[in-house]
Amino acid sequence: MTRIIHHIISYHMSMLWLCFCGVYVPLAIYMWTLSCTGGLIASNFELFIRYVAVGNEPFLSTYNGSFLGTTLPALQNIHSALKKAGLDTRVKVTVPLNADVYESPTNLPSDGNFRSDIQDLMLSIVKFLSDNGAPFTVNIYPFISLYTTPNFPLGFAFFNNSSSTLTDGGKTYDNVFDANHDTLVWALQKNGYGNLSIVIGEIGWPTDGDMNANLNYAQQFNQGFMNNVIAGKGTPMRPTPVDAYLFSLLDEDAKSIQPGNFERHWGLFYIDGQPKYALSLGTLNSNGLVPARGVTYLSQQWCIMSPSASLDDPQVASSVSYACARADCTSLGYGTSCGDLNAQGNISYAFNSYYQQNNQLESACLFPNNLSVVTSNDPSTGTCKFRIMIQSQTVTSGVEGGRGFSISSFVTFVGVFLSAFL
Ligand SMILES: *[C@@H]1O[C@H](CO)[C@@H](O)[C@H](O)[C@H]1NC(C)=O
Ligand SMILES: *[C@@H]1O[C@H](CO)[C@@H](O)[C@H](O)[C@H]1NC(C)=O
Ligand SMILES: *[C@@H]1O[C@H](CO)[C@@H](O)[C@H](O)[C@H]1NC(C)=O
Ligand SMILES: *[C@@H]1O[C@H](CO)[C@@H](O)[C@H](O)[C@H]1NC(C)=O
Ligand SMILES: *[C@@H]1O[C@H](CO)[C@@H](O)[C@H](O)[C@H]1NC(C)=O
Ligand SMILES: *[C@@H]1O[C@H](CO)[C@@H](O)[C@H](O)[C@H]1NC(C)=O
Repeated sequence: MTRIIHHIISYHMSMLWLCFCGVYVPLAIYMWTLSCTGGLIASNFELFIRYVAVGNEPFLSTYNGSFLGTTLPALQNIHSALKKAGLDTRVKVTVPLNADVYESPTNLPSDGNFRSDIQDLMLSIVKFLSDNGAPFTVNIYPFISLYTTPNFPLGFAFFNNSSSTLTDGGKTYDNVFDANHDTLVWALQKNGYGNLSIVIGEIGWPTDGDMNANLNYAQQFNQGFMNNVIAGKGTPMRPTPVDAYLFSLLDEDAKSIQPGNFERHWGLFYIDGQPKYALSLGTLNSNGLVPARGVTYLSQQWCIMSPSASLDDPQVASSVSYACARADCTSLGYGTSCGDLNAQGNISYAFNSYYQQNNQLESACLFPNNLSVVTSNDPSTGTCKFRIMIQSQTVTSGVEGGRGFSISSFVTFVGVFLSAFL
């Protein structure tokens, strides 16, 4: 049984979902991590596996339709495999879809329907889910609405700033999540599936990499959402409790930033397991998020631009590009946590990021022309943190070592995060 789940997970999931006391925890982890740890996780947490997610937002327009033909057959295959293993009544197969699979020409939820170019396919998938008692899984991101829509009303992205509202029939919407969710409810209803259950596969708010991605907004959004979840408050069209997975547990410092620089900053926790802000998850735990214990850091030292180096040095630009391409400079730029650094600070930030990502290797702070130097004075200022890498244990068997995100830390984080609910 364990082996089958492991097999299914390693081939078809980019996300393993754990359920704990009615709160669901998404763990977006790379497949290679799953290949190494899947057996362990499956045997320890087997009882918590309720869903297998096939693919992730396969119908995004950026995929040029590449997965239109394979998604439904994949759902069917996984379902058959679960059935053969006698697990299909306990473990449901679903596909997390982006909210762009439905639309409303007027922005009113009641005008919602599935996107016209994939209407037939969506109806086949919805029928499959309905026939098998599986939920419709959708990822809804008010942050992305704000990011992509000029003049989007800021307060409408949150749950308690009712400066803007939308009235639809007799229903009033004071936040975009409810309006978006109910657009889906209407789309389902119009096509004869008004009772299909809905799971929010991902919801969250990033904390860096964009002017609207910060600790304050992320806390307001996630707390506002959790308050509704805790109160069992649904949406105007579905006033029953919402099933949702907060995205995400940890920042991912090597994730693709093609969608935007905020992409590496969705975590409730930094990569060292420290909570970013207080978040009350309800009566289960009054203390909010609990920091990881027993995390060990590398030495208190940073790589910065040498005070004797010149900004005019011809090697500066290429060195910064080199460091940023291989490490993480998404906290630099307008409105970000390090957006106020001067040119020297920017360069130091890039050098340090590269140095820490290379586990403080001496050779990772040897930029040309003596541009860089190691210091034991923390260059952090205000909101701008020059981080120190955590100790990583090298993992054998085909996994690249040297990333600061080790299997043992991973297990620690899982444990710690679960303990937040106890
Ligand atoms: C989609 O098409 C664009 C432009 O032709 C291309 O750059 C991109 O790689 C394609 N994406 C996929 C997933 O095929
Ligand atoms: C929400 O409203 C409060 C009070 O009017 C304001 O201080 C806060 O900045 C608003 N939050 C957002 C995200 O607009
Ligand atoms: C939805 O559920 C209700 C109550 O269980 C039932 O009466 C109704 O027929 C269902 N509608 C559909 C479309 O399945
Ligand atoms: C909205 O909720 C957040 C988090 O719960 C709180 O900090 C903020 O003050 C609230 N704003 C308003 C306008 O009530
Ligand atoms: C620092 O770097 C950011 C991101 O590359 C850039 O937007 C900003 O203008 C730089 N600031 C200075 C003073 O060079
Ligand atoms: C770098 O510093 C070392 C030691 O201070 C010195 O010997 C060397 O000439 C310097 N290199 C350059 C390119 O300035």
